[in-house]
Amino acid sequence: MLKLDLSYISVKTEITDGTGWRMDRLGGVAEKERHAAGPMRVLVLGGSGFIGRHASAALQAAGCDVVVGTRDPAKARRKLLSPSPQCAFRRVRLERHLDPRSWEAVLEGVDAVVNCVGILRQRGRETYDRVHHLAPAALAAACAEGGIRLVHVSALGLRAPVRSRFLHSKRDGEDAIRACGGDWCIVRPSLLDGRGGFGARWIRRVAGWPVHALPANATGRIAALDVCDLGEALARLVVGPRMDGPSREFELGGLQERSIGEQLRAMSPRTRPPLGVKVPVWLARLASHVCDLLHVTPYSFGHYELLRFDNCPRPNRLPEVLGRLPRPVPAAEGGIIRFTSSQSKEPACRLSRHCPPTMTPKSLSWRSSSTKRSASAPTAC
Ligand SMILES: NC(=O)c1ccc[n+]([C@@H]2O[C@H](COP(=O)([O-])OP(=O)(O)OC[C@H]3O[C@@H](n4cnc5c(N)ncnc54)[C@H](OP(=O)(O)O)[C@@H]3O)[C@@H](O)[C@H]2O)c1
Repeated sequence: MLKLDLSYISVKTEITDGTGWRMDRLGGVAEKERHAAGPMRVLVLGGSGFIGRHASAALQAAGCDVVVGTRDPAKARRKLLSPSPQCAFRRVRLERHLDPRSWEAVLEGVDAVVNCVGILRQRGRETYDRVHHLAPAALAAACAEGGIRLVHVSALGLRAPVRSRFLHSKRDGEDAIRACGGDWCIVRPSLLDGRGGFGARWIRRVAGWPVHALPANATGRIAALDVCDLGEALARLVVGPRMDGPSREFELGGLQERSIGEQLRAMSPRTRPPLGVKVPVWLARLASHVCDLLHVTPYSFGHYELLRFDNCPRPNRLPEVLGRLPRPVPAAEGGIIRFTSSQSKEPACRLSRHCPPTMTPKSLSWRSSSTKRSASAPTAC
């Protein structure tokens, strides 16, 4: 199990951690010197997205300086979890960074990178291959060259016998990162729940319908997890010890494994169980292509394929990374799931009352004696 050792950090900098983590595998002088220089500076690519917002908030709560990588800084600023400590922005379009040298300016002054960028559908130069494979490959090479840690968010189910180019590009991206020789780790979350995500919003909406129409072959199981837990896990992997070998690939999920139909039923706020309808396979597949063509709903050919196979973490390393059990999904309050009307708005990822006090942002705090930073970013989970 990963442990953070408080005493291992140099005099100027310390990690305080109420969860009892110890950094006993911290990788030596280089890390010590880097952290002693001041707060860790972390570039979160896709930092205004669903996962990226939560990663950014958790990193800020850990005392890191966060730089959000985005195609549109003004728009990204509005999307960040609020209230949020100030963070910097860098304009980045992944499809323009297919060469390691092109990353040099973007990585200037950065200690670690979290890559949360992903596209559901291709648009012009934003192809799956460029955004999920070639740019992350160049990024990984640049990070390896510069001694920068890279935490890459990928997905489960990439090794299944699938035909989706979306999934193939993510698999190729992973392979390139694995071959880069640097300080990387790959995170593969199962389906995410939480406020503010495009897919999560749809799943919550569909769960509330009286009829659940699903592809007849959607028999694969998922282990849905809370995006707040993922944000915290990503922050822990950024500030934690260097790892080597296969131990740096993390499949993360919630504690319950369900088919998508069971998950939707579990999330249904209705007192009467919704009616399950099996959509013929040919029709479900056709519908996925139509959705891809029209760019509507998160349902895509990639998702049609993913639903056919199990997408559960093997093993599930979320409890190991968090040092506690994951939050339940859906989060039940008094046996009733409450989705407020504001669920479609900006996520309000407050400390859950399911969390014991050891899971507060302070449990992740990163303090420098010279520049004592506030660990009270209120929006992290
Ligand atoms: N959501 C889930 O349930 C789930 C589960 C497992 C894995 N994943 C994977 O996790 C990744 C992120 O998912 P998410 O739900 O956070 O997606 P998201 O909300 O759509 O966020 C993706 C972010 O990527 C950035 N981006 C998109 N195209 C870009 C480009 N060409 N150059 C630079 N940045 C670009 C966008 O930032 P700007 O608009 O600010 O540029 C956006 O905020 C994806 O790869 C997804 O496959 C998601």
